[in-house]
Amino acid sequence: MMEKIIATDRYQFTAEDKAEIEHCLHHYDDSRAASIDALKIVQRRHGWVPDNAIAAIAEILGIPGSDIEGVATFYNRIYRQPVGRNVIAVCDSIGCFLVGFEEIYSALKKQLAIQPGQTTADNRFTLLPICCLGACDRGPVLMINDDTHFDVSVEKLDAVLEQYL
Ligand code: FES
Repeated sequence: MMEKIIATDRYQFTAEDKAEIEHCLHHYDDSRAASIDALKIVQRRHGWVPDNAIAAIAEILGIPGSDIEGVATFYNRIYRQPVGRNVIAVCDSIGCFLVGFEEIYSALKKQLAIQPGQTTADNRFTLLPICCLGACDRGPVLMINDDTHFDVSVEKLDAVLEQYL
C-alpha cells in the first residue's frame, strides 16, 4: 500500500523498510551498490522517490546524496516526481520507432488527454517514453508497471489499458 509523503519534511523510513535496506547493505562490500535497492524500497512504499528520501538513503548508506541522485537519474524506472497508479512507458528507440511508436504515442496522448511526463486527472495513468526494452523484434513495445506488452497497435490499446484501473 502506497503512503503519501510530504517531500519537505525529514524523511522517516518505516522500521520494516529501514531493516530491509540495512539487510541489503550486508550483501555488498561497497555500500553504493545498495543504492538501487534502497531507492526501490522507497518507491515501493510511496510510488516515487522524493528529495528528502534521497538524503535519508544517503545517511543510512553513509555516502553522498549526489551518488544516490546519480543512481536515481540513471534508472529510468525510478520516479523522482509523483506518478499515477499505473505508469505507461512507451519504447521510443529506433526499433519501435520504425514500426509505429509515433502512432501509438499519439493515440495514447489523445486518449489519455495528457502529454509525456503528465498524469491523468483521475491519477490512473502517467505516460512516459522509455528507451529500448530489449524486445526490438516485437515492437511497438510498451510497459505498464511491470508488464510488457508486445506488438501493440492502436486497435489493441483499449484492451490493454482496461486491464489497469
Ligand atoms: S527498440 Fe523498442 S524494444 Fe528495442
